[in-house]
Amino acid sequence: MRIQVNARNQGFEFDARAREPVLYAGLRAGIELPYECATGTCGTCKAKLISGRLHDGWREAPGRKHVKPEQREFLMCQCAAEGEAMLEVSKFVYAMEPGACTPDACPGIVRAPRRLAHDVMAFGVELEQPCDFDAGQFVLLAPAALPGYRAYSMCNFERGGRQLDFVAKRKPGGGFSEWLFGADREGERLDTFGPLGKATFDPALAKNLLCIAGGSGIAGMMSILSRAARERYFDRYRGWVFFGVRMLRDAFFLGELSAFRAQGLEITVALSDEDVPASARSEWPQLGFARGLVHEVARRTMAGKYHDMRAYVAGPPPAVDAAIRMLLLEARLTTDNIRYDKFS
Ligand SMILES: Cc1cc2nc3c(=O)[nH]c(=O)nc-3n(C[C@H](O)[C@H](O)[C@H](O)COP(=O)(O)OP(=O)(O)OC[C@H]3O[C@@H](n4cnc5c(N)ncnc54)[C@H](O)[C@@H]3O)c2cc1C
Ligand code: FES
Repeated sequence: MRIQVNARNQGFEFDARAREPVLYAGLRAGIELPYECATGTCGTCKAKLISGRLHDGWREAPGRKHVKPEQREFLMCQCAAEGEAMLEVSKFVYAMEPGACTPDACPGIVRAPRRLAHDVMAFGVELEQPCDFDAGQFVLLAPAALPGYRAYSMCNFERGGRQLDFVAKRKPGGGFSEWLFGADREGERLDTFGPLGKATFDPALAKNLLCIAGGSGIAGMMSILSRAARERYFDRYRGWVFFGVRMLRDAFFLGELSAFRAQGLEITVALSDEDVPASARSEWPQLGFARGLVHEVARRTMAGKYHDMRAYVAGPPPAVDAAIRMLLLEARLTTDNIRYDKFS
């Protein structure tokens, strides 16, 4: 199916597969159509249908509250063209930069699912085809048993790799969560689409790094920190990590984070719902611990240290919103230097 997109600055044409959401077809063709979650919740991928017909894959998508169907607006991440179609996007759209990791669909197999904490599971996905992905990106996962895709950030990064590593926090009653936590999924097949996301890190950035993660938001930070550590980035630039959880029992990756301390990173675990247990500091001497919401702990620690800084933020939407507000209003970082993924 031929799709034409008229953006504010220029027009693009590309082909879509049958039942393929317009967003995925455009991204696959190397066109940076606007999106954030890519899974129907944020509304960023809003477009207007000029001609043609669409199939809406998820009419109850929360992101639909941002569109006006009577004006033929729709979500590009949920709607597929049923023939030739022309649409309008009210934003500037550009082709992807040369060397960018272009997303595509690829089947995969679940590998080594294991508990990291009472409500957090680590698992791998072995892809059928090798794939390039940057530090800080995410992919969409779709087991056959569930409708639609779910977004998960990689904890690793690769060029030409076939193994994706994830951590998933259990969402009570959530389709994917119950699927993953409810039985041993080793060897099960699922579909993937990716890589996606702009909260990426490349060592050529040449700035100090600030990572603020709520809960499983630490996943993408692990990939950024691994990439930076491999290049000995923190010999030249400073790095701070703030990892927010409710209680110490909710925390994971503390061993891995302790290992980054040797590279000069300063890492603080923020506990929002309990005082720091005496055992925390003796068990994890490389890490700092503080009581408070993660953005407040970051604010207290970082005052006056925002020089030449890029910040990465990920986790539940309220935690991300609070951290972004703090980074804009207090740290006075520019929007280009605040990269985030809202786990909506
Ligand atoms: C960019 C990004 C990165 C993320 N990274 C992580 C991570 O690394 N670790 C982590 O724990 N969480 C991450 N999340 C959050 C994670 O995606 C959600 O917790 C997960 O979607 C919950 O899925 P569920 O099936 O358990 O819940 P559900 O409530 O069943 O489903 C949640 C999501 O699934 C999709 N969905 C549900 N039903 C349908 C349908 N009928 N048709 C189409 N789509 C449907 C929608 O996107 C919906 O928001 C990330 C989210 C985003 C946006
Ligand atoms: S990108 Fe489509 S709703 Fe978020």
